[in-house]
Amino acid sequence: MKTTISVIKADIGSLAGHHVVHPDTMAAANKVLAEAKKNGIIIDYYITNVGDDMELIMTHNRGELDTKVHETAWDAFKEATKVAKDLGLYAAGQDLLSDTFSGNLKGMGPGIAEMEIEERPAEPIAIFMADKTEPGAFNYPQYKMFADPFNTAGLVIDPTMHEGYKFEILDVYAGESVTLNAPEEIYDILALIGTPSQYVIRRVYRKADNIIASVTSIERLNLLAGKYVGKDDPVMIVRVQHGFPALGEVLEAFSFPYLVPGWMRGSHYGPLMPVSQRDARATRFDGPPRLIGLGFNIKNGRLVGPSDLFDDPAFDETRRLAEQIADYMRRHGPFMPHRLEPTEMEYTTLPLIQQKLKARFKKEAGVVEAKKSIYEKQVEGGD
Ligand code: 13P
Ligand code: 13P
Ligand code: MG
Ligand code: MG
Ligand code: MG
Ligand code: MG
Repeated sequence: MKTTISVIKADIGSLAGHHVVHPDTMAAANKVLAEAKKNGIIIDYYITNVGDDMELIMTHNRGELDTKVHETAWDAFKEATKVAKDLGLYAAGQDLLSDTFSGNLKGMGPGIAEMEIEERPAEPIAIFMADKTEPGAFNYPQYKMFADPFNTAGLVIDPTMHEGYKFEILDVYAGESVTLNAPEEIYDILALIGTPSQYVIRRVYRKADNIIASVTSIERLNLLAGKYVGKDDPVMIVRVQHGFPALGEVLEAFSFPYLVPGWMRGSHYGPLMPVSQRDARATRFDGPPRLIGLGFNIKNGRLVGPSDLFDDPAFDETRRLAEQIADYMRRHGPFMPHRLEPTEMEYTTLPLIQQKLKARFKKEAGVVEAKKSIYEKQVEGGD
């Protein structure tokens, strides 16, 4: 029988700002999941948090987008929200964009990463969960894991990986996806995924047999809600070992604290800092963006583990560099490229300011008016 791993997350409120989930809200969610386990809806579960995001890790035999499993997650978030409201937590129910559940959680606010697998005799997986960033933040490490031999030795020396992987890339604005092959099409892949705000790697498959290797949540809350309701704080499930990258190759992809959008008010670039569960609190300038990783083995749907993957001095230098980058970026204050470009900002007073100052702008003789960027002209097919 196939096993499905469902990682479903939502921010239902935080103690003191946006930095941490309150344990009482986790206890409320735990009650709902324990009941679902007793009733046979799910086989096993584990609840954790990264910053202000509550993470439900569940296993079952019901496949992806299952109504009962999604309803269980929804109920858990609703019950947790009740407690958050009782306690007067900040932004209680933040990511629950709708009041009523209908069928599954798609488009309702929570982030969803699910994969249905045929369990291998040993099925090791790693689950990554981030706070203060968005789904495209997993583009860079997925490329490193599955396409870069300088990261993943197995791409060169393991015959079961040597053929490469397929990347399913979603255009979150157009709602269309394309599947591209690595290594043959890596330049095309990079041309797209280097713009992570628009192109998000949703799934990776092993090319030799089309077996799923990784899946990420792709929900972008502001695109769903049409306004800022918080960052999308993504999750990712990665299968490791035996035809997939080794756990150490997967973790190596996070050894460089690369810049991601998010951080304060969802509107600043900052380094993604891998931390232990203990340090999964977004404090300085509401960050820096945090990442946790948990390692499990799955056996007949049972979640064996977890191991707290970044609770390791081997990542101390990554964290130290992240802190240095955080200092460096912060010193730019409101200047780009610390602050996001106007089209990606989650908050902006810019149109109001432009409006207010409109009458005070004076025409300058001899300065040509440039109407469009080179990119916009090329998209329109101009010269
Ligand atoms: P062990 O000998 O410790 O099992 O290592 C196997 C391996 O391939 C590590 O990447
Ligand atoms: P969250 O998406 O984690 O709630 O972030 C909100 C925010 O604006 C932090 O400054
Ligand atoms: Mg929040
Ligand atoms: Mg969050
Ligand atoms: Mg958020
Ligand atoms: Mg061994």
